[in-house]
Amino acid sequence: MTASSTMELTLAILKPDSVRRNLIGQILAQIEAAGLQIRALKRLTLTRRQAEAFYDVHRERPFFGSLCDYMTSGPVVVAALQGERAIERWRELMGATDPAKAAEGTIRKKFGQNIEQNAVHGSDATETAAREVAFFFSTMELAG
Ligand code: RTP
Ligand code: MG
Repeated sequence: MTASSTMELTLAILKPDSVRRNLIGQILAQIEAAGLQIRALKRLTLTRRQAEAFYDVHRERPFFGSLCDYMTSGPVVVAALQGERAIERWRELMGATDPAKAAEGTIRKKFGQNIEQNAVHGSDATETAAREVAFFFSTMELAG
């Protein structure tokens, strides 16, 4: 694949509600069908400290404690996605934060249960994508 300035890596998390409900395959299939490549993939359970560090930007928000409870409530699947404009495309495919407001056909519309248990996470900008991919994956894991 030829490198270009718009080729990006972004982080996806299949949140605990997705893993609990056996939706890993369906969500990954939708990612691949949209033309995004899965460059790295693993299942893990976040510790409280890891969840708080990952969502540090939300530390002062009223939902921070509940969000960290939820994100540590069971295993998640994390994936590094690659493609042209991958950050924006993955956000589009996810849909709005609140599944009730998400567009038809998006993952949150199909699988999200409420504004917190909304199936998936996606990085929201170039800097956060770099930080979030590096939070979960080493250079060696991304080299394949
Ligand atoms: P994410 O970071 O997970 O991709 O979601 P997002 O950008 O669409 O939304 P963000 O504002 O970054 O919020 C992060 C996650 O916190 C939970 N949340 N709960 N109770 C609430 O009002 C509320 N608002 C947000 C959701 O799990 C959201 O995805
Ligand atoms: Mg966010």
